[in-house]
Amino acid sequence: MRPSHRRMPIMTHTSRRAFVRIMALSGAATPLLAVSGCASNQPGNDVNAGNVSAIAIGSMRGISSDPVAIARDVDGLFAMTTLCTHAGCDMRMSGSIAADGMRCACHNSKFDKSGNPTGGPAQSPLQHFNVSIAADGTVTIHQSQSVSASARTAVPA
Ligand code: FES
Repeated sequence: MRPSHRRMPIMTHTSRRAFVRIMALSGAATPLLAVSGCASNQPGNDVNAGNVSAIAIGSMRGISSDPVAIARDVDGLFAMTTLCTHAGCDMRMSGSIAADGMRCACHNSKFDKSGNPTGGPAQSPLQHFNVSIAADGTVTIHQSQSVSASARTAVPA
């Protein structure tokens, strides 16, 4: 059989995942993942989340520069990853983020406002990060500092 008549192997879901993992480990996957809405690792940098005066009680929104969301309830500010715990899709790009939680469009996992999985294939909660507020009201999310889902940063009166 001539090479042009050989059948290409069918890429299964598992082999696609293996391919993405290999690409991610080699550092070659970033442009690919940016297009697909998936990400493979969590950057550890600090993220500017704007001024606390612009974050209303009862709100949650994604941060444009990084795969994190900032939220506020009556006890204060909190932040969590937007990377789905099922297969790593970034819910800022593939899904939705709202005050009552996040939804992942890749395979329809759902998370409540505390990041706990409530539906779909995801089984693990979303990772939470420490949040600080500077004297001028600037909010910073510290992705290198994991905290419990109940942790809040009190907003000065
Ligand atoms: S990656 Fe989110 S549901 Fe599969």
